[in-house]
Amino acid sequence: MKYGRAILADVVGYVPGEQPSGTVIKLNTNENPYPPSPRVLDALWSLAAENVRKYPDPVSLRLRQACAQRYGYENADWVIAGNGMDELLSLVIRTFVDPGDTILSPYPTYTLYETLSALHGAKYAAVDLDENFQLPESLFSTPAKLCFLPRPNAPTGVCAPREAVERFCKTFAGIVVIDEAYVDFADDNCMDFPQRFENVIVMRTFSKSFSLAGMRLGIAVARPEVIAEFMKVKDSYNLNLATQAAGLAAIEDYDYMLNSASRVKATRSRLSAALRDFGFTVPKSDSNFVLAQWNGTPSAREIFERLKADSIYVRYFKVRRLENALRITVGTDSEVDALLDALRTIVYEKKPQPPAPESSTSFESLQEDS
Ligand SMILES: Cc1ncc(COP(=O)(O)O)c(C=O)c1O
Repeated sequence: MKYGRAILADVVGYVPGEQPSGTVIKLNTNENPYPPSPRVLDALWSLAAENVRKYPDPVSLRLRQACAQRYGYENADWVIAGNGMDELLSLVIRTFVDPGDTILSPYPTYTLYETLSALHGAKYAAVDLDENFQLPESLFSTPAKLCFLPRPNAPTGVCAPREAVERFCKTFAGIVVIDEAYVDFADDNCMDFPQRFENVIVMRTFSKSFSLAGMRLGIAVARPEVIAEFMKVKDSYNLNLATQAAGLAAIEDYDYMLNSASRVKATRSRLSAALRDFGFTVPKSDSNFVLAQWNGTPSAREIFERLKADSIYVRYFKVRRLENALRITVGTDSEVDALLDALRTIVYEKKPQPPAPESSTSFESLQEDS
């Protein structure tokens, strides 16, 4: 492109999961299958025309105060709100990384980190997770200006032990961004780390556990001097009025979110167990999705296509270490039942006939044939 910046020539833009129209079972972008708190909808309905006429609060103060209080911080100076966590991921690079600096992350992980690094002209060092998708020792010895450390990780769903992340934060010389997009579906979190480490930024999104993907809201929590740097770089009115109102109502109805997350976790257990019964390898997930690894026939890619033809959308990544896997968002119980019915047909149709009547026809015996 004649007028384009040289740096963009080789950048492949981030490709989000499909947003199909019509009636489909959508298990491809890790949205929450349940609606947000009714208080969110009340707050949105009551936005008066008079307010819409004016600019919103440029610093989202009430929302940041409510988040600080909820997460155990003294005041809003510890929090910045962004137009989705994705905006904050971009902002953290623009605030703390110079072009040419190195950005570190584990691999495989959220692909937007690499895209944003490339757009900024930063080098990107991706260190392979070990065979159990846990943090490898080599991550601890790779120097960089900034590290994205998602916990739980996506698309593996696996949560690194808190102690390992703590050790990393202590030893890493640059900024550590702990991406806690999915942490409300896990057993613990690192939200206390910014209190203890000056180089740590913890980020959350309202897209998953709070069911607000459509509103675009994320927050970052860090030392006030770190947040002050962010504030210099952000757009003046980065959060619109409706998002600020929705976010405030959501964080104030925290129990509603906890309840929604525990429903998802219950369905996740059932989904993981059923997939393992089918012969998939499913690492323990602490997220609202599972990674279903599959080495059989038909291939993972074919299964993805077949499901799509049945209007069931899951996610397939054609990249190293994920080519034999599907990432499946935890839906409602009935959505998961429909998925399992479809998978049962796909996975078993090419199997040999069940053994003769005198031998066992148990599920396990069929599985060994795969
Ligand atoms: C690991 C991870 N971080 C951040 C985000 C971005 O969340 P948001 O919707 O707030 O931009 C996502 C979205 O899927 C994600 O998977």
